[in-house]
Amino acid sequence: MGSSLSFVMFTQFLFLLSLLSLVSAGSFSSVEPLCHDDESFALLQFKESLIINQSTSAYSKISSWMAQSSDCCTWDGIQCDENTGHVISLDISNSSLYGSINSSSSLFQLVHLQKLNLSINNFNHSEIPVGVRRLSKLTHLDLSYSGFSGKIPSEILQLSKLVSLNLALNPLKLHKPGLRSIAEKLTNLEELILSEVDISSTVPSILANLSSLTTISLINCGLHGEFPTGIFQLPNLKSLCVHINPKLTGRVPEFNRSSPLEVLRLAGASFSGKLPDSMGNLQSLYELDVNSCNFAGPIPSSFANLTKLTYLDLSENIFSLGTLSWVGKQTKLTMLLLANISLYGDIPFSSIGNLTKLTSLVLGQNELTGPIPSWLANLTQLNTLWFSDNKLCGPIPTSISSLLSLQVLDLFSNNLSGTIEFDLIRKLNNLFHLDLSNNNLSLVIHPSTNSTFQKFKVLALGSCNLSDFPEFLRNQDQLEILVLSQNNIHGQIPKWISNLSIDTLMFLIMSGNSLTGFDQTPNPFPWRSLQFLNLLNNKLQGALPIPPPSIFSYSVSNNMLTGDISQMICELSSLSYLDVSYNNLSGFLPHCLGDLKNLSVLNLQYNNFHGSIPQIFMEGCKLGMITLSQNHFEGPLPRSLVNCTILEVLDIGNNHIIDIFPSWLGILPELRVLILRSNGIHGFIGKPDRIQRFPKLQIIDVSNNNISGKLPSEYFQIWKAMQSFDASHLTYMQANGQMKKHVSYGWLLMSYAYSMTLTNKGIMTKYLQIQDFLVAIDLSGNKFEGEIPKILGNLKALHMLNFSNNILTGFIPSSLAILTNLESLDLSQNMLVGEIPPQLVGLTFLAFLNMSHNNLTGPIPQGKQFLTFQNSSFNGNVELCGSPLSKRCSNSEDPPTPPSNFEAKQGSEFPFEFGWKVVAMGYGCGFIVGVFVGQIIITRKSGWFIKSFVIGHPTGRRVKWRRR
Ligand SMILES: *[C@@H]1O[C@H](CO)[C@@H](O)[C@H](O)[C@H]1NC(C)=O
Ligand SMILES: *[C@@H]1O[C@H](CO)[C@@H](O)[C@H](O)[C@H]1NC(C)=O
Ligand SMILES: *[C@@H]1O[C@H](CO)[C@@H](O)[C@H](O)[C@H]1NC(C)=O
Ligand SMILES: *[C@@H]1O[C@H](CO)[C@@H](O)[C@H](O)[C@H]1NC(C)=O
Repeated sequence: MGSSLSFVMFTQFLFLLSLLSLVSAGSFSSVEPLCHDDESFALLQFKESLIINQSTSAYSKISSWMAQSSDCCTWDGIQCDENTGHVISLDISNSSLYGSINSSSSLFQLVHLQKLNLSINNFNHSEIPVGVRRLSKLTHLDLSYSGFSGKIPSEILQLSKLVSLNLALNPLKLHKPGLRSIAEKLTNLEELILSEVDISSTVPSILANLSSLTTISLINCGLHGEFPTGIFQLPNLKSLCVHINPKLTGRVPEFNRSSPLEVLRLAGASFSGKLPDSMGNLQSLYELDVNSCNFAGPIPSSFANLTKLTYLDLSENIFSLGTLSWVGKQTKLTMLLLANISLYGDIPFSSIGNLTKLTSLVLGQNELTGPIPSWLANLTQLNTLWFSDNKLCGPIPTSISSLLSLQVLDLFSNNLSGTIEFDLIRKLNNLFHLDLSNNNLSLVIHPSTNSTFQKFKVLALGSCNLSDFPEFLRNQDQLEILVLSQNNIHGQIPKWISNLSIDTLMFLIMSGNSLTGFDQTPNPFPWRSLQFLNLLNNKLQGALPIPPPSIFSYSVSNNMLTGDISQMICELSSLSYLDVSYNNLSGFLPHCLGDLKNLSVLNLQYNNFHGSIPQIFMEGCKLGMITLSQNHFEGPLPRSLVNCTILEVLDIGNNHIIDIFPSWLGILPELRVLILRSNGIHGFIGKPDRIQRFPKLQIIDVSNNNISGKLPSEYFQIWKAMQSFDASHLTYMQANGQMKKHVSYGWLLMSYAYSMTLTNKGIMTKYLQIQDFLVAIDLSGNKFEGEIPKILGNLKALHMLNFSNNILTGFIPSSLAILTNLESLDLSQNMLVGEIPPQLVGLTFLAFLNMSHNNLTGPIPQGKQFLTFQNSSFNGNVELCGSPLSKRCSNSEDPPTPPSNFEAKQGSEFPFEFGWKVVAMGYGCGFIVGVFVGQIIITRKSGWFIKSFVIGHPTGRRVKWRRR
C-alpha cells in the first residue's frame, strides 16, 4: 500500500515538474535542471545560421533541435551541467552541416562550454572566429575536418584550460602564433592534434615540458629542423605521429620499460641513426611506422619482444643486411611491411608461420632467396602478398589458390620458374592486382578461360611466355595498368584490345614483343584516360600512331615506323615524355612542337629527320633532355635553346650542324651533359665571358668536329662540377617531371632516366642511364694544338678523358696523376713527346689507356694497372721501350718506380666501381615507374612507396630507385 502511494506521488511530482518547466527553468537542487532560455535560444539561432546538407547521408544531430521542446539539455549532442543547467558540452560532429561562421555567431554565447566538437562538417572556408576566446572554460576543442581555413587566431591561446586541441585536416596556418606559443600557453594539453595544418617551423623543445601530453599528431605540417628527443620520453605519451615531414630530422632515444608509448609513426620524416635496442622495452607499442626514414644499422633483435604489435612498417630504410630472425613472436601483427631494407635469407616458417592474423605481408625489394613457402596458404587472412624484387625461386605454390581473401599478389622480378595455370589464379575472386612480370614463368591460359568475376585493376604479365593476347582480357573493363611486355606476341594488335577498359586504362605496356601494327585504324588508341603508352622494341610499321590527348608519356622507340611526325602530335597538351628514337622516321620536325608546353623529354635520336632544328624552344620551355643525335639535322644550333632553363642533357651528336662552339649555352644553369659529336663545329672554343658559365657541366663531347686552337684551359678552370663530386648517392640523372595521379587504389609516380651515347674505353657505348657523378671530356678528332695544360689536374672528378686524334704537342703533364678517378685516358694520335710520367701508375682505376701514335720516348712505367695494358696502348711511338713492347730499354733507361706520394688508395671502398658496372649497353631508355599502393596508404594515411619498377628496358632489367 505504502509503495503504491509513493508511486502515485512520484508520477504527480513528474507532472508538476513538466508544468513548471514551461514557466521557468527550474532550480530544484535535487533533480536535473532545465536548460537556460538564453542558451536554448542561442543554440536555435546557431542552427538557423547553418543548413543541413541533404546530399550526405549522415544523420544530423542538429535536426532534433526544436523550439517546442525547449529543454535543450535533452537535445542530441548537448550536455548540461547537472547543477547549473548550463550547456557544457556541444558535440555536433559529422552532422552534415554547411555554412559560414564568425564571431557574431550565437555559438559564442555558450560561455559555459567545456567541450566543443564541430568536426566533420563544412564551415565553408570560415576562419576560426576570434570570438572563440569567450569560451574560456573550454577543455576540449575539436574542429577537425570541418572546412576551416586561414590563420589560426592568437585568441586560441586564451583558452588556457584546454586539455585537448584538435584542428587537424583543415587548410589552416599556424604561423603567428606558432607551435611555440601553443606549448607556452596551453600547458594543460593532453592531446595536440594539428595534422595537415601548415605549421612550417621547427618543433620547439619546450613541447617536451608538457608532461601531461598523451597524444601528439603533427602529420604533414611542414615541420623542419631537429625533433627534440625529450618528446619521445614524455612520461604519459602514448601516441606520437609526426609522419610526412620530410625536412624534420632527429634520432630515436633510449626507452625504458615504463614508457607508455603505444603508437609511434615517423614515416616520411628524415629521422636517422640507429633504432636503439631499448625499443624492445616498449611493452605497449602496437603501431610502429618508420617507412622512408634514414635509419641505419641493424634492426634490433629486441624487436622480438614487441609482441603487442599489430602494425609494423620498417620499409625504405638503410638498415644493414639482416634476416627475418627477429620476427615470429609478434602474433598479433596484421600488417608487416618490410620493403627495401636489405633482408636476405629465406622466408622461414619460424618467422612468419605463426602470424596467423596477417592481412598484409610486404617484403618487396630485398635479397630474399629460396622458394615461396606453400604454408603461406595457412595465413588465411592475407589480402596482400608483395614479394617483388627479390631472388625467390622455384614455382609458385599451388596452395596459393586457397588464399581466398587475396587482393594483391605481386611477385614482380624474382627468379620464379615453372608453369603456372591461370585457373589457379582464377579462384582468387577478390584479386585485383596481379604482377608476375620479370620471372621465368610460363603462364598457361586455356582459350576457354573465362574470368568474369575477377575484375583486375593491375594486371602485369610481362615475360610470361605468352604468344597471344589472353582471351579473358575481353571481360576486363576496369583495368588501369596492363603490362604484356617481353612476351612472344606477334602480328597486329587486334581490334578488341583497343576497346578493353576504355574508360579506365592508364598504363599500357606492350614493349618487347613482335607487334607489327594495329587492326584498328585510324584511331588505335581510344582509351580516354591513357597516360602512359609503351610500345618500345616491337616491329611496328607505318606511320607514327598518335595517342589520345590524355597521354603523358609515349615511347615507341626501336620499331620500324616511317614517314614524318604528324602535326596532330602537337595537340597532346599533357605530353611530357616523347620518345620515338630508333625508327626510320623522316622529314622535317613540325614547327608546332613548340606548342607542347609540358614536354620535358624529347628523344628523336636514330631516325632520318632532316632540315634545320626548328625554333621550337619557347619561353617557359620545360625540357630537361633533348636528344636529336644520329639524324640529318643541318644548319646552326637554334639560339632559342637558351629558353630551356632547366635543360640537363643536350645531345645533338652525329648530325650536320654547322656552327661555332656554342659558348652561349654556358648560361644554362642546369646543363650537365653536352654532346655535339660528329658535326661541323668549327673555329676556336675561346674563353668564357664569365666565370659562372656551365656551372653544372660534367660531360662534354665535341669529338670529331673541326675545332682548332688551344685546348680550352680557361674552361677547365670554371667547370666546377668536374672538380669534385659527391658519390654518396648512387643515383641516375632523371627527369624530375613527376606525375602523381590517383589510380583508384593509389598514386603513381613517374620519372624518366636520361640516356646518352659516349665513347667509353674506345667503344661507342649507349648509356641507358647516366650515373649522377659520371664526369667525362671528349675533345678527340679535332685540330686542337699546343700543350696539354697542367690545370687539367683540377678536374679531379674526371672518369674519362679523350684528347686523341688532335695535333697536341709537348709533354704529358704529370698533373694527370692527380686525376685519381680516371678510368679511361686516351691521348693517342697526337704529337706528344717526352716520357710517360711514372706517376700515372698511381691511377688505380685506370682500365683503358691509349698513348699510341705519338712521339713518346723512354721507358713505359711498370706496375699496377700498367701491367694490364697491351701493346696497342703504346704502339706507334718509336722511342718507347719496356714491357709490354718488345723493345727493351737500355740500362740507363731503367723503368722508373712511381714516387710513393702518388700511391692511390687501393680499393673496393671506392664507390664508382659499383656505379660503373651498372652501366648497361642496349637500346632506348628506361621509364621508371613507382606505384604507390593505396591499399596500404589508405589504411595508413601516410603515402609512401611500396613498389617501383622499370618498364621499357629491352632486358626488362630493373633499376633500383629510391624516393630520394
Ligand atoms: C626480451 O625481453 C626479455 C625480458 O626483458 C629479455 O630478457 C630478452 O633479452 C629480450 N629479448 C631480446 C631479443 O632482446
Ligand atoms: C607457434 O605457435 C605455437 C602455439 O602457440 C607454438 O607452440 C609454436 O612454438 C610457435 N612456433 C613458432 C615457430 O614460434
Ligand atoms: C596448414 O593447415 C593445414 C590444415 O589446417 C594443416 O593440416 C597443416 O598442418 C598446416 N600447415 C602448417 C605448416 O602449419
Ligand atoms: C564467358 O562468360 C560470358 C558471361 O558469362 C559469356 O557471355 C561468354 O560466352 C563466356 N565465354 C566463354 C568462352 O565461355
